[in-house]
Amino acid sequence: ATPPSPQNEPVLTYAPGSPERAALKAELDRRARETIEIPMVIDGEAIRTGALDEVRAPHRRDLLLARAHQGGAEHVARAIEAARRAHPAWSRTPWTERAAVFLKAAELLATRYRPTLNAATMLGQSKTAYQAEIDSACELIDFFRYNVHFAHRIAAEQPASAPGIWNLAEPRPLEGFVFAATPFNFTAIAGNLCAAPALMGNTVVWKPSANALYSAHFVMDLLIEAGLPRGVINLVMGPPELVSNACLDHPDFAGIHFTGSTAVFQSIWRRIGENIGRYRSYPRIVGETGGKDFVFAHASADVDALAVALVRGAYEFQGQKCSAASRAYIPRSLWPALKDRLVGHIRAIRVGDVADFRNFMGAVIDERAHARLTGRIAAAKSDAACSIVCGGGARAHDGSDGWFVEPTLIETTDPRHPLMAEELFGPVLTVWVYPDGEEHTALALCDETSPYGLTGAVFARDRAFIEAASDALRFAAGNFYINDKPTGAVVGQQPFGGARASGTNDKAGSLFNLLRWVSPRVVKETF
Ligand code: ALA
Repeated sequence: ATPPSPQNEPVLTYAPGSPERAALKAELDRRARETIEIPMVIDGEAIRTGALDEVRAPHRRDLLLARAHQGGAEHVARAIEAARRAHPAWSRTPWTERAAVFLKAAELLATRYRPTLNAATMLGQSKTAYQAEIDSACELIDFFRYNVHFAHRIAAEQPASAPGIWNLAEPRPLEGFVFAATPFNFTAIAGNLCAAPALMGNTVVWKPSANALYSAHFVMDLLIEAGLPRGVINLVMGPPELVSNACLDHPDFAGIHFTGSTAVFQSIWRRIGENIGRYRSYPRIVGETGGKDFVFAHASADVDALAVALVRGAYEFQGQKCSAASRAYIPRSLWPALKDRLVGHIRAIRVGDVADFRNFMGAVIDERAHARLTGRIAAAKSDAACSIVCGGGARAHDGSDGWFVEPTLIETTDPRHPLMAEELFGPVLTVWVYPDGEEHTALALCDETSPYGLTGAVFARDRAFIEAASDALRFAAGNFYINDKPTGAVVGQQPFGGARASGTNDKAGSLFNLLRWVSPRVVKETF
């Protein structure tokens, strides 16, 4: 039962004149002309309540992409019931048959629905074509394929037997349903938070982010077309706390697969704690929550590579990656040259409608994010410890009307400034320039200043320094990059996740993650 060897899906370039570009453009045009309705999907049925929320493109407020049917407590109860009903058959389905559904989904996405998912992610979440391609095409396909590869390893993991005795490990799923609460920023993460537990035989209640309903709808369609049986994944929409609490308060709640904010994850954890006596089993709590990801440069760093990494790490997808570079530690000797290059790159960034492939940045996700970011930038402008090196505005360069924030570079004289500690989730990079020769003090500051521990990068040519930084920052990042940007983990290559306030570090798209969705039974037979 060895499944096909997974390989990372090649990233298409969307070069002018390429067939993929023509197909994506056509899909973008088509989607922009049509307002669809998004139903919930419970027990395989499309559920329309008539209580409709508008879904608009963050970079074009005039573009009404969809109206989404909102549910209430009764729909969550139905979704849980559907997941419970589907559990006996799905959990007994041989893992190879479950795997086939996800391999089929990967194939359908790679060959047929790539423009659909990419256009949905571009329009609904304001990603550029490249950012959509690495997310809703490649990463989602990779999750589907690599999960199958790891599930095979789990199935093969068997205990020793002895003469007259046969011991078998049966990788049962959890008993009950898994609640997948998924973020807006990666379509692939949303898909995987459902797909990973489902592949292992669990059934799922899925609450997508209200800011990513458009792509969630197409992911659900894809899985259904791939043959996912009814009730295995149930998509519910509604007030987030209501949906969440209805799942967390249910005795059959068996686990949560979460990506989102630290505050929400902590409130979920507290609620699970309060409910702990009412569950059938101790639930699995798997969450990835946030970051304040660093780039630490040594005087021996290659300034050109460092500048490119900072710009890409900080501003791609408007800095709305939990992995985004948002604080940098730069030695004084490098700063003048680096600053020149950064300013040059940042001034060349075009911000605007993502359907124009020349734009490098779209809009931030919604009005709330826009207000938060512009507020923080305004505060920095009047803060004596900060100076705005570049950016600081909030407009599109092409006149588009949406939630735009310009790429912004701030220098602070205070290494413990909140801009060096708190997650902003937007296109804002703060630099602290440290005196040459004091890199060990600066490393300690980098380690201590922020509560997070997700990603980080060190730039240096000096090998001894790389080793020292790697050791000093051992717990500061679950994904640590040497001479590269801290974003863009590839499934199967850099299993992703961090500890501290960044989450439970169960490494998305890896064996570590899939193991959380099994509750093995060991059977000893004596002959
Ligand atoms: N996995 C995503 C990245 O590495 C968040 O950028």
